[in-house]
Amino acid sequence: MREHDLFERYESAFDGADDTMRRKGKRTNRRADDAEPTRRGRMTEEEKLRVARVREDQLSTADTPEDGDRWSTWGDAEQGPKPHPNWLITELAAVDRELGIVKTGKEADVFLLERAMGDRACLLAAKRYRSNDHRMFHRDAGYLEGRRMKKSRETRAIANRTAFGRNLIAEQWTVAEFAALTRLWQIGAPVPYPVQRSGTELLLEFIGDADGNAAPRLAQTRPDEDELLDLWRQLVATLMTLAEAGITHGDLSAYNLMVHEGRLIMIDLPQVVDLVANPRGVEFLDRDVRNICGWFASRGLPAEIGEPSALVATLLDVAGMA
Ligand SMILES: Nc1ncnc2c1ncn2[C@@H]1O[C@H](COP(=O)(O)OP(=O)(O)O)[C@@H](O)[C@H]1O
Ligand SMILES: [Mg+2]
Repeated sequence: MREHDLFERYESAFDGADDTMRRKGKRTNRRADDAEPTRRGRMTEEEKLRVARVREDQLSTADTPEDGDRWSTWGDAEQGPKPHPNWLITELAAVDRELGIVKTGKEADVFLLERAMGDRACLLAAKRYRSNDHRMFHRDAGYLEGRRMKKSRETRAIANRTAFGRNLIAEQWTVAEFAALTRLWQIGAPVPYPVQRSGTELLLEFIGDADGNAAPRLAQTRPDEDELLDLWRQLVATLMTLAEAGITHGDLSAYNLMVHEGRLIMIDLPQVVDLVANPRGVEFLDRDVRNICGWFASRGLPAEIGEPSALVATLLDVAGMA
């Protein structure tokens, strides 16, 4: 079967979700396409024009809310852990509006979204994994090959990096990050609340102020001595929480930690590493700890406090692996 057919099949499997996933400026209407005359043979110019007009009309009257970009996708998505936080708008009649880009990256882009229902609203971060040609996911290597997939055509598509395969990879990373965030949230680690996942889009609690300014990443902060020590203690507590659950971040750095109102929040977790199941688990833990200790040392944390080997030993002990 050709890749094109596979992709169509794949898309139709997600038709329901797709209808509510129309992106700004790129709205498509599958139903309009379906309504195309099925008659074979060449259409006259007149017929072509008529079909084009019908399609145009259907596109412009597509089911989008007047005051937003799409209806809330909450109902069709995989939803975050219960109890849902009380700031979260869960009504199906809510409206999502895209307010801007928070950050574009090589592997994913993060957008600011507002979900509103009447006079209530909440801000969300929409992390959308890329599946295009330009996407370079340094975490693909090694990680995906080890995962068992049911259907061999999917395995092949991934191996050959077809459009269909790339989309599957992007979706797998989205699924993986949503699962990691859900688990971490449930064990009380400081991560953004994972609101929902659908396709290659993840919606998260927005970490930032009410005006939509994202909190700084740890790397962008210039903490004084006391603040640095406080951030260090929070980091150690967070790593302990992860170690107790037998995991490490896997890509920990001062860019994947945010500082919001003095609180250290861990983000970017699709590659979370299981210390026992992953044969290189301890190696990843060691790398995470050394990376972040390096940043604290460069900001002046005394060496005897921020010593990486001691922290690694403590974490392995907490994980029951010492
Ligand atoms: N929940 C969030 N709230 C606010 N900003 C966020 C949130 N998640 C991510 N960001 C911003 O987007 C950037 C990229 O997100 P990240 O998850 O690290 O993806 P990437 O894989 O592109 O590094 C972060 O550095 C941060 O500035
Ligand atoms: Mg990141």
